[in-house]
Amino acid sequence: MELGLGTVQFGLDYGVSNKGGKVSPETVKTLLDLAYGNGIRVLDTAAAYGDSEQILGDTVTADKFFRIITKLPGIHKETVTQAEITCLDNIFHQSLQRLKTDHIEGLLLHRPGDVFLPGGENIYSLLCSLKEQKYVNKIGISVYTVDELNRLFSRFDFDLVQLPLNVLDQRFVTSGCLSELKAKGVEIHVRSAFLQGLLLIPPEEINEFFAPIKPTLVRYRSYLEENGLTAVEGALAFLRLQKNIDVVLAGVTNETELRININAFSKKNPPHLDFSSFTATKENMINPQFWQLK
Ligand SMILES: NC(=O)c1ccc[n+]([C@@H]2O[C@H](COP(=O)([O-])OP(=O)(O)OC[C@H]3O[C@@H](n4cnc5c(N)ncnc54)[C@H](OP(=O)(O)O)[C@@H]3O)[C@@H](O)[C@H]2O)c1
Repeated sequence: MELGLGTVQFGLDYGVSNKGGKVSPETVKTLLDLAYGNGIRVLDTAAAYGDSEQILGDTVTADKFFRIITKLPGIHKETVTQAEITCLDNIFHQSLQRLKTDHIEGLLLHRPGDVFLPGGENIYSLLCSLKEQKYVNKIGISVYTVDELNRLFSRFDFDLVQLPLNVLDQRFVTSGCLSELKAKGVEIHVRSAFLQGLLLIPPEEINEFFAPIKPTLVRYRSYLEENGLTAVEGALAFLRLQKNIDVVLAGVTNETELRININAFSKKNPPHLDFSSFTATKENMINPQFWQLK
């Protein structure tokens, strides 16, 4: 299991705890140097992350061999015609141009449900063809729910899946998905390690939208304290305890955060940690797509 760097924060003002806004290009350079120097090799980006790809292309130097994963956006149409496929193909080649490379490690569908639209199987064929032409090593999907994942794998094969996983959101573990994916040889990348930073905010400071899970968060933070763990160490300890994860993606907005994450990720977990009682079942709490923050 390795730590990877999420880069949405490099291109957009992102995250529930974000007070500093989008990361400056100078800080991106510092973060990439620090990450590479500490063995981080995976960068996660997307065409939809503002100018994240451009900044990576401008900043990653030829002596750094990062494995870059990017994503194709959704098509926002009811059917997929040749026009949409040509458009996606163009978007992919523009991503390569912005990233200043002719080959990347992974290409994921940001809205994989599009493959079920009439003609949507051609999106899958496009991914396969880009892989065949060796523009990408692995093709995959970014998913939000277990149902979505199962439905996609019932019709198509993918090399890589990015999914959310953290103490509050343990759906992909309890459903047995992670072990099933691993048995198929699929590479698993986990996002939402800190749930956009929510797991790191003191419970008394969280937005009132999260009131239903506040008691769980308070109990969770006490549990971490009892075990001598900080919030970052606890969030990463939970993931380190899971089997079958290949990459844990965490996003940061400054150098201090990255240093803290690198140290916490390499720390040995205390024995006898059990995070099973901290799951939140209400999807509107654990899936940021449903958050309504005032
Ligand atoms: N559908 C998709 O494919 C999808 C969706 C979302 C994200 N992603 C990917 O996943 C990556 C991570 O996003 P995420 O939603 O999973 O966020 P996350 O990694 O759970 O949380 C990131 C936020 O946590 C805060 N943070 C990180 N380390 C910290 C530390 N040591 N101390 C205090 N705060 C710290 C930072 O916010 P502040 O500094 O602002 O507090 C940071 O922006 C993204 O960059 C992106 O690449 C993919």
